[in-house]
Amino acid sequence: MSYYCDDFLIKEKNALAKDIYSFTVYCPEAAAAAKCGQFVHIRAEGFTLRRPVSICRVDREKGTIRIVFAVKGEGTAEIARLNKGDRMNMIAPLGNGFSSAEIPQGKRVLLVSGGIGVPPMLETARRHISRNDSVTALLGFRGYGNIILADEFEKMGVQTVICTDDGSVGIKGTIAGPMRAELEKEDIGAVFACGPKPMLKAVAELANEYDVFCELSLEERMACGVGACVGCAARIKRDGGEKLLRVCKDGPVFNAAEVIF
Ligand code: FES
Repeated sequence: MSYYCDDFLIKEKNALAKDIYSFTVYCPEAAAAAKCGQFVHIRAEGFTLRRPVSICRVDREKGTIRIVFAVKGEGTAEIARLNKGDRMNMIAPLGNGFSSAEIPQGKRVLLVSGGIGVPPMLETARRHISRNDSVTALLGFRGYGNIILADEFEKMGVQTVICTDDGSVGIKGTIAGPMRAELEKEDIGAVFACGPKPMLKAVAELANEYDVFCELSLEERMACGVGACVGCAARIKRDGGEKLLRVCKDGPVFNAAEVIF
């Protein structure tokens, strides 16, 4: 796996919702190598540990990677203070990504995500739309003010279903009901998911019930981000036993059937 580390030029910055920012960074080699579901590791000025952020869009022609992240503490707040024209110190791309390329074409792909798990699904959607796959995205948010990127899925031609905890937009409640309804249609070839752990657990159980191939992108605190420190271990069923695997290097994407919640 090749990755690149440099101070990359920020081409664009936008605020998408309260404390959620989109940055587009010029990094042609990293963009050429990036797969959907991979992440970048960003250094915040004055902080030792980098912050992992999933890749939201890749534009190989323009040589850019777009990331979207939420400000959760002082490190991400420092990164969010960067502006267009500044440089972002980033290692990219990292992790294994979704197996989108291995999914047979012609079946429907179901993308399930919630909150800040939504951004990596945009590039995943784009990859499948570019293969003429039919794509449905179930996007879960707390409420109206937290909705991000939904219009971009729709513009891409993705059938988009929004669920909100408070019912202010779309279906009130979790994605479990709409996901079951989609699986009942029996034309889903794969499910890819990213979001909070309870959501991922529900997704894994439903995919198992309907016997559909499913991959989950896990989130863990990370230190090195490149597999050296084992600071991001997750419990995974593999080779007939339980293993502690590194989310940064062996993941962040795992087969849903392997993940121990
Ligand atoms: Fe160091 Fe994953 S963060 S091994």
